[in-house]
Amino acid sequence: MGNIKKIISSRRTTHTFLNKKIDEAFLLDCMEASLNAPNHKLTQPVRYYLAGEQTREMVFDFLVETKQKKSGPLNESQKESFKNKFINPSHLIIVSQVLNSDPIVLKEDYATLACTLHNLALLLWEEGIGTKWSTGNKIKSSKLHDITNIDARKESIEALFWVGVPKIIPSAPPRGSLDQFLKRLK
Ligand SMILES: Cc1cc2nc3c(=O)[nH]c(=O)nc-3n(C[C@H](O)[C@H](O)[C@H](O)COP(=O)(O)O)c2cc1C
Repeated sequence: MGNIKKIISSRRTTHTFLNKKIDEAFLLDCMEASLNAPNHKLTQPVRYYLAGEQTREMVFDFLVETKQKKSGPLNESQKESFKNKFINPSHLIIVSQVLNSDPIVLKEDYATLACTLHNLALLLWEEGIGTKWSTGNKIKSSKLHDITNIDARKESIEALFWVGVPKIIPSAPPRGSLDQFLKRLK
């Protein structure tokens, strides 16, 4: 019990990664274990897409293009930091949720997706591997669906999940304590 508490409390989102590959067999093993997330009615809504080199390049170009549309042309140092951010991570997993016409199932399935990704983050963190769950408008873009060949009528992309060796482990962002959020009911 002590160990899991330590892993949960010490895990931080990794924003900068070393340009270093992790063992893919280990990653796949963690992905397999992550599927043990609680899942009401066992709908199994999570789909993992492990990006190969070609997809990584297309995603990178797409992210640069999106950024430039928003903030104008990137200068050299911005290009460099973009590369570090998106080329350095060992792996990129695009994570989608299978859509369901019932809004209650949809919500419960997203909960399962979140539990699954957190399982994965914790399993990797235990071995010193960092992750970043990234969202924003970009994951809803039709371009990203085209790149990944994910049919937006059937699945919604919910994460670009970056995996790799952390360059920097950020300090813990301030969070409230339990007494702020706990109400005892009679
Ligand atoms: C659903 C979800 C979406 C997130 N999207 C982003 C994102 O787009 N960009 C980002 O930098 N971090 C993103 N994060 C990470 C959070 O910003 C991060 O968890 C938060 O700052 C707390 O830091 P910690 O994970 O180190 O405790 C996301 C996390 C979740 C759960």
